[in-house]
Amino acid sequence: MTLFQKLDYGPAPESDQPAQQWLESHHRSFGFYLNGNWELPKDAELFSVENPATGEQLATCRQAGSREIAQALSGAREAQPKWEKLTGHQRAKYLYALAREMQQHSRVLSVLETLDNGKPFRESRDIDIPLAVRHFYHHAGWAQLVEEEYPQHVATGVVGQIIPWNFPLLMLAWKVAPALACGNTVLLKPAEQTPLTAIWFAECCHRIGLPAGVFQLLTGDGRTGEELVCSNGLDKIAFTGSTSVGKRIRELTADSDCKLTLELGGKSPFIVFEDADLDAAVEGVVDAIWLNQGEVCCAGSRLLLQESIAEKMVGKLQQRMKQLRVGNPLDKAIDIGSLVSKVQLERVKRMTTEGAENGATLWQPQISLPETGCFFAPTLAIDVDPSSVLAQEEIFGPIAATMTFRTPSEALELANNTIYGLAGSVWSENINQALHLAPSLQAGVVWVNCTNQFDAACGFGGYRESGFGREGGREGLLEYIKPKVTAFTGKKLKRLDVQGLSHTTRLVGSEIHRTAKFFIAGKQARPDGGTVRPVWNKDGSLAGTVGQGNRKDLRNAVEAAQKTSSWSKSSGHLRAQILFYFAENLSLRRQELETRLQQLLGCKSNEAQQEVDSSIQRCFHYAAWADKFEGVLHQPPQGLLVPVLNEPLGVIGLICPDENPLLSFLSILLPSLAAGNRSIVIPSHSYPLIANDLIQVMETSDLPAGAVNLISGNPAEMIQTLAAHEDLDGIWVFGTAEEVRHAKHLSTSNLKRVWGNEGQVVDWYSPAAQGREWLRQASQSKNIWIPFGE
Ligand code: NAI
Repeated sequence: MTLFQKLDYGPAPESDQPAQQWLESHHRSFGFYLNGNWELPKDAELFSVENPATGEQLATCRQAGSREIAQALSGAREAQPKWEKLTGHQRAKYLYALAREMQQHSRVLSVLETLDNGKPFRESRDIDIPLAVRHFYHHAGWAQLVEEEYPQHVATGVVGQIIPWNFPLLMLAWKVAPALACGNTVLLKPAEQTPLTAIWFAECCHRIGLPAGVFQLLTGDGRTGEELVCSNGLDKIAFTGSTSVGKRIRELTADSDCKLTLELGGKSPFIVFEDADLDAAVEGVVDAIWLNQGEVCCAGSRLLLQESIAEKMVGKLQQRMKQLRVGNPLDKAIDIGSLVSKVQLERVKRMTTEGAENGATLWQPQISLPETGCFFAPTLAIDVDPSSVLAQEEIFGPIAATMTFRTPSEALELANNTIYGLAGSVWSENINQALHLAPSLQAGVVWVNCTNQFDAACGFGGYRESGFGREGGREGLLEYIKPKVTAFTGKKLKRLDVQGLSHTTRLVGSEIHRTAKFFIAGKQARPDGGTVRPVWNKDGSLAGTVGQGNRKDLRNAVEAAQKTSSWSKSSGHLRAQILFYFAENLSLRRQELETRLQQLLGCKSNEAQQEVDSSIQRCFHYAAWADKFEGVLHQPPQGLLVPVLNEPLGVIGLICPDENPLLSFLSILLPSLAAGNRSIVIPSHSYPLIANDLIQVMETSDLPAGAVNLISGNPAEMIQTLAAHEDLDGIWVFGTAEEVRHAKHLSTSNLKRVWGNEGQVVDWYSPAAQGREWLRQASQSKNIWIPFGE
């Protein structure tokens, strides 16, 4: 009666019986799923899996070591070709069976997830499990279609996948479903805190008769993860977790050509303009930061409020926060459950205290928390300084940090003031304003008047230090297939010896002394270090001298490229016109370039002609693509529209090889330009003059100053500075294996995108030395979710 009068929620606990029975049926002890068998080695180290809401032990699991990893790798390697050889329809039937099984057992899965992770049952039941099921349905469809849609591709091979604890089964689905659909075999390592639904899933794979070795499960903590990463037997690693571990994995894989995708942390802005529907925005905040206790990589953890409504919005939020219910996660009337572990609780407490010390005012509603378990009250940090730990670091807890802004450009500046770039949310009833901001946010996902929307058909993934690669949609599928034919020949690339000056050298004959300069910010520039070196023709005569770039030259070039953001914002049509014009101007210099190639390389006139002709064609190729490399439009079941924009990476360093110095230079530069990047190009070390000859072509082709900057120098030294430069977004290395490795190691600090020839000689005349894959590597996709229709 009292309840009825007060209209409070009564307790509505979900029974944990089905999950407890399943655990009991295994005597609460689990091993590894290897090659179609369950293995419980007696000598394996054990670890305990606990319910963070109660502290109760749920099960004991085993820590996989090198022996199990080796066993899994050999099983996966053997199974992979057979799995890939099945027809798409056969693979689709397995994925469909997995989707159906998960759907039919959704209750036990939801309870298990909640027991293991501490998240509200309502969320496991309504979000985690249905979305995981949707992933398997969607990718059962892709298994059926992949060969038809991507006939020029094959599976990547054997894939290692490491997932976190915040959405255990959903993260499994995001990774496993596309991998299996495309014909890869998978070694999965779930987080040590939350392995239970992955174990259930492995059992499900067994039940549906998935061939042995196609999916294998290795439980354990970061040591198992690291050993898997270092195992050298994987063709691809897909990781989701903290940025620090992501960087470590980048570092550990720098010496291999293993493909890598990283989905890392975030500090996503949630921007509310004064014309927003504030009540809707309040509900948005609830979903943005209190979903899953804020343990969400794309949580809207920075609330940027327009000054005129900030106070009102904070007041409304405080009112709403008083209604939030924190407690037993199995209670269906609960909004916020338990954090995943004591370690995480301590981390959240420590960071919040630090935030208060940094000057933020902390506000929490007066609600009682359960006495045991890892609970933390929803928290609003008001007037947070943009440099505070609360504004800069990923907390992974239920804390929203508020900041204010006056103008849209101030909002943008605050929003982008982060090392991360996973997601962002914009709230405004003015569609022009919202859609004006969306492309300028440095983030892989932007939600307009909504937040935390996900779907199997849409791409998800970060910019900057939030990682690279996409999961979901066609974008995600491409991470699990590779082109059948590439221009990479498999032969080892070697740099040619470069002859310097000796005491017998005679530089000037009857010709006028000529030193090729650099091209920085649209102007020819002398080398800062005042050093030059001679370039010789094949017959031993002097072709000219070129400057040797140093750190200062490179820094100037990066600065110039950073300033030329107009190129990245220009339309595809404009870029196409300029590239056509570039081709036109190049063809006017055909004779001069052919002569130069013959002199430098000593090649025959027909060979020089072929290289110049192909170079002109390559310009046309990318001029043609410049206004056609478009995104797609996703239509997820939520009824929103999701346009996908292919955006440039930003500023890229391009390192060129010696082979076909004109054609290779343009084949590397043009896709980057066509996609809207600005670049610093290091031309062939042996034949840099051919690139200098192009300066006048660039000057007369309407390319904005700073879009392309040219600096010659020793590749190893140039890579050293470029790869370590924090303002560079990517680096393409077409050089020796050593140079590529070097670039990968040095790029770890800001996770810049590294791509290139993996140390192989490239056939620059191959049709595969141009096209979509090159443009894809030069860009990153942004999914913008827009409410539409009813
Ligand atoms: P973590 O990054 O250490 O764990 C994620 C996964 O990586 C787990 O499976 C773990 O066993 C594995 N792992 C750990 N060290 C590894 C290594 N050296 N090599 C290979 N695999 C390794 O995250 P952790 O420590 O559990 O959480 C700490 C913070 O990380 C959180 O507070 C949160 O800020 C962030 N985090 C971010 C996630 C995201 O989705 N962006 C997910 C989980 C955590």
